[in-house]
Amino acid sequence: MDLFSAIDTDPVRQRMDELAKELDRLNYEYYMNDRSLVSDEEFDRMMRELQDLEQQYPELASPLSPTKRVGGEVNKSFRQVEHRFPMLSLGNTYSIAEIVEFEARTRKLLAGQEFSYTCELKYDGVAIGLTYKHGRLVQAVTRGNGAVGDDITINAKTIPTIPLQLRGDYPDDFEARGEVVYPFEAFEAMNRQREEEGQEPFANPRNAASGSLKLQDSAECAKRKLMFCMYFMMAPDGISIPDTHFNRLEYARQMGFKVQPYIKECKNINEIKEFIEYWDKERWNLPFGIDGIVIKVNQTPLWDALGLTAKSPRWAIAFKFKAERVSTPLESISYQVGRTGVITPVANLRPVWLGGTTVKRATLVNAHFIANMDIHIGDHLFIEKGGEIIPKVVGVDLEQRKQGSMPVQYIVRCPECGAQLVRAEGEAGHYCPNADGCHPQIIGRLEHFVSRKAMDIESLGPERLELLYSAGLVKNVADIYDLKREQLIGLGTDATIDSVKSSSTLQEKSADNLLAAIEASKQVPFERVVFALGIRYVGEVGAKKLARYFKNMDALMVASEEELAQVEDVGEVTAKAISEWFLNPLHRQIIARLKNAGLQMNGKWKVESGKLEGMTFVVSGVFEHFSREEIKADIENHGGKVSGSISSKTTYLLAGEKMGPEKLKKAEKLGVPIINEDDYLKKVRGEI
Ligand code: IVH
Repeated sequence: MDLFSAIDTDPVRQRMDELAKELDRLNYEYYMNDRSLVSDEEFDRMMRELQDLEQQYPELASPLSPTKRVGGEVNKSFRQVEHRFPMLSLGNTYSIAEIVEFEARTRKLLAGQEFSYTCELKYDGVAIGLTYKHGRLVQAVTRGNGAVGDDITINAKTIPTIPLQLRGDYPDDFEARGEVVYPFEAFEAMNRQREEEGQEPFANPRNAASGSLKLQDSAECAKRKLMFCMYFMMAPDGISIPDTHFNRLEYARQMGFKVQPYIKECKNINEIKEFIEYWDKERWNLPFGIDGIVIKVNQTPLWDALGLTAKSPRWAIAFKFKAERVSTPLESISYQVGRTGVITPVANLRPVWLGGTTVKRATLVNAHFIANMDIHIGDHLFIEKGGEIIPKVVGVDLEQRKQGSMPVQYIVRCPECGAQLVRAEGEAGHYCPNADGCHPQIIGRLEHFVSRKAMDIESLGPERLELLYSAGLVKNVADIYDLKREQLIGLGTDATIDSVKSSSTLQEKSADNLLAAIEASKQVPFERVVFALGIRYVGEVGAKKLARYFKNMDALMVASEEELAQVEDVGEVTAKAISEWFLNPLHRQIIARLKNAGLQMNGKWKVESGKLEGMTFVVSGVFEHFSREEIKADIENHGGKVSGSISSKTTYLLAGEKMGPEKLKKAEKLGVPIINEDDYLKKVRGEI
């Protein structure tokens, strides 16, 4: 039998090898050379084939397989490991004069020797060290305190610019160091998505990169589109590597590392200054953030001669760019009304050039922000753009304040509909309570309802919604499902519906397309219907959790605040907002009409059994066989509920490793039984 299976797996092994090699090659061409050799579909197909084979024949799966790029392995905890070579930091300065001093001192210490400097970018990200043995990545560790860092190998493997297997010639044992950065475009897209889902956005790409490397689920990390910029290479005694920093990086590039081309060998201080000045201006044209320039002595044998100070080498220094800050007059304040009625004050500034763009506006956040900064009418405000991309108001330029100027008075009425603004207790923001009579709120809600992640009625853009609203045809989301073909065709005559003077056939076609899109939206799953309602604080993730917990609209509608707060990630404030939303008779009427129209009001999930029916679990910690999300889905697939907080209604606390002590304490206090992963599996299989 063994003999047979050994023979049988040979062609499988061959196919897996072939797929892995091809996927590696395609990845390399894509990320290193910006060349796409096959379609995305073809790439995904190959990846899936390899994943399937690895699942069927786990003994044949390579730890360096390109499937690791997709993630899926769970970091149970980040093991602390000691660095083989301590990760030193660099002396740094904001002053060119100190760079001049550094250069003069170095020249003096190396008197009589031929040498040069390398100038390169100081990447603004998270430093990691990668150990390669026999051409394979064996470990990735964060800087930590320089002596000990976190083992983040599983997540590092998902970063396409980190080679898993080196190419061509390479040293048998060495460490590659570099910075993991979050490119601006990917960062902004990710933050937009987080905001849509009601999650707190990351303050800047560096924080986001750092948070991503610490994700427990490597598949999540794979989605983050991080990039590794290599800047350093070192090898143990006895292993030979090139003897200039410049050539080391060139060597690394040939091995398959992403080494940025912006490195220059400089002969003297003038060339160094020129490099610094160039990048101080140009840095905002890079696709990722840098916060300075690093200058190193190029000839590595001279490093020993120069030695170290207490914590940094004498052969290198970092010049840091100042966060750019300007002062510009505040011309006026606009107050924007969001779809949930929230008011956001926005400073209209005299346009000013800052960090590569013209800044005309910046948020003033809320009334507290304005009061805290004590902003007066006509003040000049300091605007900064540091590691952050979004310009921020950081203070008032008091030197420019005119005598007798008055503090800004926050508005008391909605700028759109005139309703008296309200400020909920404990909240810093004001909002307009006139949800059903305030234009931007009505249109905002309609836009949200039809948006891609909600009902996805693509052909109903903002202009058409405005048109339908002003024609009195759509006043709320339920009206969308009552639209008739004749109404739409008649509407197009002023050309707005097709944006060109449209012929009647065009209008008819366009009306039919719209009606078809509306019809198709009736199949959108229940959880997205919940999201589409646009209840305050209920983002995409929250809606999913509510839908899974309550299973249908009827149950969700009648849930008490207390019950709502049981749902994971639903706090008291959100629970109150949901409960109030459903108590509104107009909203109940809308729900009834949507139900009549045939929208999905029940969740359809893969149900494996009803064994956990009536039970509510709280899940905490890290598990061996499941990721946390998987185990929660498993509970729900067996009819159970998952709640985020322990109460007397909790049936079990399902505890993994590293569970929070608070949860444990609360469970003990309330007498909630605590079970582990094994107990859980037995329960699902009906053994206890
Ligand atoms: S060289 C021993 N080069 O800046 C010298 N560092 O304190 C090793 N950094 O945390 C560092 N870009 O992570 C070097 N091109 C670059 C760099 C760079 C960013 C980071 C590094 C370290 C800090 C310097």
